[in-house]
Amino acid sequence: MELHILDHRLRVTSLSKSGIVNFTHPLIKLIFLRNRTRCKFLSLTETPENYTVVLDEEGFKELQPSEHLQVEGSIWLPLNVVSSGNASSSSQAVGVTKIAKSVIAPLAEQHVSVFMLSTYQTDFILVREQDLSVVICTLEEEFNIYREVSGESLPVQSQDVSNALQPTLHPVLIPQNQFCVMSLDPETLPSIATTLIDVLFYSSSPKDDAQANQDLEYIKFFSFSLIDGYISLVMDTEAQRQFPADLLFTSSSGELWRMVRIGGQPLGFDECGIVAQISHPLADSDISAYYISTFSFDHALVSDVHSLKNVIMK
Ligand code: ARG
Repeated sequence: MELHILDHRLRVTSLSKSGIVNFTHPLIKLIFLRNRTRCKFLSLTETPENYTVVLDEEGFKELQPSEHLQVEGSIWLPLNVVSSGNASSSSQAVGVTKIAKSVIAPLAEQHVSVFMLSTYQTDFILVREQDLSVVICTLEEEFNIYREVSGESLPVQSQDVSNALQPTLHPVLIPQNQFCVMSLDPETLPSIATTLIDVLFYSSSPKDDAQANQDLEYIKFFSFSLIDGYISLVMDTEAQRQFPADLLFTSSSGELWRMVRIGGQPLGFDECGIVAQISHPLADSDISAYYISTFSFDHALVSDVHSLKNVIMK
């Protein structure tokens, strides 16, 4: 198996709900006017708390400093596991489950904090640039590691480190919404532009948000990403109804996913082992899951929420 360190230097930021008006202009440019920016990695996720925007340095230049913009201090690098098609993997599971034991657990054991971004196409594991050497020596037993530099994949090697961990248990919340993970041909992005702008920037009134905060039975969660030319969307069935049915596509099984939101207080960026805590038991039971970290909380999307409850709530 190969692990690629992708050639994107990412910032993890959040935009406040009340300040989103100040950012719609650059965000529309980043989402719809690709030939006007050199941004190649953009992920935008709306949650009840805020908008999380993860983007490369080119994209980050588009965001003006403001009291409504919070920026995590580090540069994050996306890692991506490339499994050779005919690999002897017994698991049918998709998403973070597939990399739980080979990537997520070993990094947590070495106290490396990660930030997860699952998409329709693949799962990105973001690590801090300063942790890269630890990451490389932790994962080089399991993987051939390549660093992508201007379109070329260069093999990487390393030195040594060691450690163990005591995870904190975070409260979880399981809203009622059902989510789908979808994709779209970038060529057809203009045809859904109006709906996307509506859903992203205009769909929640302040009243909805106030309600949502007290009563998280249904949660606002919508995620759009445009990464190296691939689009991925995660939305609940309610948002899905607003899009033309023929343009978005999902996997042939067309599954719906339930969400487990991890964290009572905002999780911060330094703690490690949160993704590991959730993904390890899922891997043991071979339950597929997508996993999306946002500025405040983590979100696992699982195909089978009942088994998840059993495994994590023991
Ligand atoms: N750093 C956590 C881990 O290594 C995951 C990210 C949690 N923080 C957040 N802001 N979503 O498991």
